[in-house]
Amino acid sequence: MPPPLVYLLDDDESIIKLVKYRLRNEQLNVKSFSHPNELIEAIKIEYPDLVVSDVMMPEIDGIRLIEKLRELERLMPVILVTGKAAVDTAVRAMKSGAFEYLLKPINFEELKLAIGRAVEIGRLRTEVAEIKSGFKSRYSYDSLIGESKPISEIREFIRRVSPVTGSVILLRGESGVGKNLVARVIHYMSPIAERRYLEINCASLPSNLLEAELFGYEKGAFTDAKTAKKGLLEVASGGTVLLDEITSMDLSLQAKFLSFIENRRIRRVGGLEEIPVDLRVISATNSDLETDVVAGKFRSDLFYRINVVSLNVPRLRNRENDVILIGRQFINDFNLKFKKQVKGFSGAAERKLLAHDWPGNVRELRNVIERAMIFAEKDHIDADEISLSNISAAPSLDDGLYLPKGLSFEQIEGEYLKRVLEWNNFNLEASAKQLGVTRKTLWEKRKKFGLLN
Ligand SMILES: Nc1ncnc2c1ncn2[C@@H]1O[C@H](COP(=O)(O)OP(=O)(O)OP(=O)(O)O)[C@@H](O)[C@H]1O
Ligand SMILES: [Mg+2]
Repeated sequence: MPPPLVYLLDDDESIIKLVKYRLRNEQLNVKSFSHPNELIEAIKIEYPDLVVSDVMMPEIDGIRLIEKLRELERLMPVILVTGKAAVDTAVRAMKSGAFEYLLKPINFEELKLAIGRAVEIGRLRTEVAEIKSGFKSRYSYDSLIGESKPISEIREFIRRVSPVTGSVILLRGESGVGKNLVARVIHYMSPIAERRYLEINCASLPSNLLEAELFGYEKGAFTDAKTAKKGLLEVASGGTVLLDEITSMDLSLQAKFLSFIENRRIRRVGGLEEIPVDLRVISATNSDLETDVVAGKFRSDLFYRINVVSLNVPRLRNRENDVILIGRQFINDFNLKFKKQVKGFSGAAERKLLAHDWPGNVRELRNVIERAMIFAEKDHIDADEISLSNISAAPSLDDGLYLPKGLSFEQIEGEYLKRVLEWNNFNLEASAKQLGVTRKTLWEKRKKFGLLN
């Protein structure tokens, strides 16, 4: 992913210089503007991840700027910075949809944190907006490739559950089988397809932050809560949320989540008001919930509640010829991406694909085809171009990491991460343990190296 692009707007040149300098040190790509109109012109042809703007400017103030951006359908988060601590401006700023409202003199730690969160959320929102507009057709029944019996059963499941908008659905299955994809199809095939669809990975944040992210918080709820913020459940109201890796919630958050599912109301952290929220809630997990319940890691009441409407997405190994059909689709995808014209697999290659066990399921298949496509020179992929790691064997010296000359530390890290995931059949807990990192760190690394999908 390229470094986030930040548009910086202030009519005070000295502030621009200072902020630009500090933000560039944070690996951000910063463009600065001293007049709102310049920014508006630039933003018509480019889509930055984030805007950081002064509030008090001649002609157009920061709040009017936000309105202008929204008129242009520029939905990126805007952080407003102001020298005047006026309550009414702060309130107006939050109402206008500012992501954060910070006071001058700028505290860079605070700004850095706000930017980090805004970039994250902004990317999520643009993805959602893209899916909603142009890419909606990417998620239909046809997005789920396959003609096997298990995949027809999945389509049938989706047909039954998608008309019901406020439902609670559980998706189970090994890593890489397509749970996220199924969740998207459920949403985009349903009557509320035009509403929000948001995904949050419960393993990506420590519990207290996850709670704040899901339920939102009131100003002053904790030290960093300089302003009130809506949680994802509230933001997605009317639509669908996917709570991925649901077992990463700790027990107290599980209790709060259960109460939300039952009452359809949320209370922001530090808040008193109960806010009604109407949502389809999809949870996903690749761990064995029954075992987690017995081990006391997952609340049994929550398990019974979410397990009512549940789908087990089966392993790729059990989907007959689908591996070839999905593999062909990946060839098409990578033809576009790498500008190649590979037509398909040779007979021997197909036999090799069919014989493999696919512990990493569709994601592993995708990686295997990507690797083959990078090197592909003929118009068919042959068996010897498909390199399958025999990951059922324990890692041995032979099963190490091959490091060609000229790799950077970062590339080595990425390669090693990929191998460790493969060695552990994409089992996240085992991989994190082997790497000696937390699941959150593992999630961040997977994200950094594009290994979430
Ligand atoms: N039937 C299918 N047809 C085409 N592509 C598929 C299919 N199933 C999965 N994929 C693709 O495989 C990849 C992995 O799927 P996905 O991320 O949904 O898996 P997952 O079950 O959520 O995995 P994890 O448990 O690790 O989160 C994605 O790129 C997805 O688009
Ligand atoms: Mg997933």
